[in-house]
Amino acid sequence: MTAALVEHVTNAEVIVCCGSGGVGKTTVAAALGLEAARRGRRAVVVTIDPAKRLADALGVPGGLSNEPLRLDVPGPGELWALMLDTATTFDGLVRANAADEQQAERILANGFYRNVAGSLSGTQEYMAAERLHALHRDQRFDVVIVDTPPTRNALDFLDAPRTIARFIDHPLFKLLMMPTRRGLKVLNLAAQPVLKTIGRVVGGDVLTDAVAFFQAFAGMETGFRSRADEVLALLHSDVTRFVLVASPRADTIDEACFFAERLQHSQLAVAAVVVNRATPHFGDLPARRPRRPEQAALYDNLAELNITAALERTQADALLTGNGVAAGVHTTWVPTLPGDVHTMNALETIRAVLFANAP
Ligand SMILES: Nc1ncnc2c1ncn2[C@@H]1O[C@H](COP(=O)(O)OP(=O)(O)O)[C@@H](O)[C@H]1O
Ligand SMILES: [Mg+2]
Repeated sequence: MTAALVEHVTNAEVIVCCGSGGVGKTTVAAALGLEAARRGRRAVVVTIDPAKRLADALGVPGGLSNEPLRLDVPGPGELWALMLDTATTFDGLVRANAADEQQAERILANGFYRNVAGSLSGTQEYMAAERLHALHRDQRFDVVIVDTPPTRNALDFLDAPRTIARFIDHPLFKLLMMPTRRGLKVLNLAAQPVLKTIGRVVGGDVLTDAVAFFQAFAGMETGFRSRADEVLALLHSDVTRFVLVASPRADTIDEACFFAERLQHSQLAVAAVVVNRATPHFGDLPARRPRRPEQAALYDNLAELNITAALERTQADALLTGNGVAAGVHTTWVPTLPGDVHTMNALETIRAVLFANAP
């Protein structure tokens, strides 16, 4: 059996909450943050979900921004939260890593950078990885809790560092970097056969901008390359823990299996499972069905709820025991609360359930 949640909240430096949409990743991420703060750690929860769910769960009416915001929660630790903004993060990286002000300005003003770079597939995932790297090194925080987006490809950021490394090592990238080394002009470079072909597809202006972008970028790739290696090492080290959130219904269990397999595919393991939104246990059935109609109705109601709860346990077994992809992983069940988790009080209830048996 893997360690209980409390061990992760006490010792991990990175906790990634994953699972399919709507199961409660954001809620669980925020509740883990609350517990970490109670245990004296300085926790930061970062959400990659553009929906305002984290702000909502934490009861932050003004919303969150790209900069960590300290929340008013019971200590002795601290709880901070932020919502990742890809463009702002990318700008910050350019400023922090450029050799000088001119190089930064050349990149930031570039048309390809402004209009294309941010929306290229993979940029968002890569920025999430870069941000994780920066937050992990930030002296203000002991633990970074990552709330992943509600999509099936939420874990693509695990591959982003490898992808960027491959990209930087690619001959085409090397070719694009060449002009600064050989003193070629942008237009001369764009006339190279391979780039001419690309230019026919994407349009000459885009290509010229792109070439200028990579030219301006030259020299910064070493830093990007080494951070990519560092973040890969971080994700695979034992200071990082993956918490799989699921709900106990057949379709969401299937999705949870998908996420567990996705982690396996990247040579990573589920450290703990949270089965959220389970049918609460309201008590055992009395031995005999009462005669009085109103009591009999309550009895039937309870019988039905107990059947649902038993069915949920059976369905979750597909994930958690025997041949299940998360067999042997410590599991915590959280019942459905009467209302949504949109206030600090409700979040505190979830936290208390998650850590009810914790020393
Ligand atoms: N145990 C629970 N009981 C009742 N409502 C819950 C519970 N957990 C989550 N919710 C609600 O379900 C919705 C989805 O939760 P959320 O944490 O945003 O899921 P995800 O991040 O996985 O998409 C939210 O409205 C949240 O308030
Ligand atoms: Mg969410």
